[in-house]
Amino acid sequence: MTLATPYAPGSEQWTDARLLYALEEVVEKELDRHLKVAKDWMPHEYVPWSDGRDFDGPLGGEAWEPEQSKVTDIGRIALVVNLLTEDNLPSYHHEIATLFGRDGAWGTWVHRWTAEEGRHGIVMRDYLLTSRAVDPVKLEEFRMAHMSEGFESDNRHSMLHSVAYVAFQELATRISHRNTGHQSGDPVCDRMLARIATDENLHMVFYRNLLRAAFELAPDRTMSAVRDVVVNFRMPGHGMPGFERAAAQMAIGGVYNLRIHHDDVLQPVLRHLKVMEIGGLGPEGLKAQEELGLYLDGLDGEARKLDERLAARRARIEARKAAAAS
Ligand SMILES: [Fe+2]
Ligand SMILES: [Fe+2]
Repeated sequence: MTLATPYAPGSEQWTDARLLYALEEVVEKELDRHLKVAKDWMPHEYVPWSDGRDFDGPLGGEAWEPEQSKVTDIGRIALVVNLLTEDNLPSYHHEIATLFGRDGAWGTWVHRWTAEEGRHGIVMRDYLLTSRAVDPVKLEEFRMAHMSEGFESDNRHSMLHSVAYVAFQELATRISHRNTGHQSGDPVCDRMLARIATDENLHMVFYRNLLRAAFELAPDRTMSAVRDVVVNFRMPGHGMPGFERAAAQMAIGGVYNLRIHHDDVLQPVLRHLKVMEIGGLGPEGLKAQEELGLYLDGLDGEARKLDERLAARRARIEARKAAAAS
């Protein structure tokens, strides 16, 4: 790839501002590609409006009761976490607009991305309220609490770290939506979340291709950024009320856990970019590559322990069921 840049491509020379400038050409190309492949879709078409009715309050309808929900327990937990994550969009927009800027191709991308993400919160909330899948009062209280906290990116100090983070995070979001849909017990919910997951995948591809270009320009700095982001990764929803408990339940329920994080999120991006095979690195990049490899091995080991614990738990539940039935 040839990139028009007035700066010498020595790794030492790269600052965030220079990288932003050098990557603008790639952003333009990726934005064009994105707009060609992204299909416009209508959130209202995914909502079962005929299932809806008035709630209590000014309209004097029926209050929400848990038995009205068609969604599984794990589906309800994950849907709330995923929707609250989408809800915090104003904070995410602020973070990426501050880092990437609102001018030129970067700005066009930031705004387009924000508009697409906005659809996700709209369709999920409409679905949840119309189908009475979750407690609407709790949902609103959580949304107020979560958004009032705001969101501050762990990677706001570095544009390169931020690109690396969003490449993994968009894929993590895709996988989380997809698995939530599969486990929701409602085909309407599954179809809606599959549609959202398709968007998240295209977002991942955009940032992953940007990350590839960054590796070509500044391999040592990019390797260090990827190592830092992978080692310190946490989901954007970590600040929401009850997140730890919900995350633990989503881990047990197979929506998102260490195994999924390692196999379906980290490895696909790293393999696609052939990160562990990149050669010609300086001492800084080599050290980062080595540390990344060690971290991934450790994570795989942790994931194996979790797999074993979950298998033992399933066996205990089955045994209890069999004993109760006899
Ligand atoms: Fe989203
Ligand atoms: Fe996304």
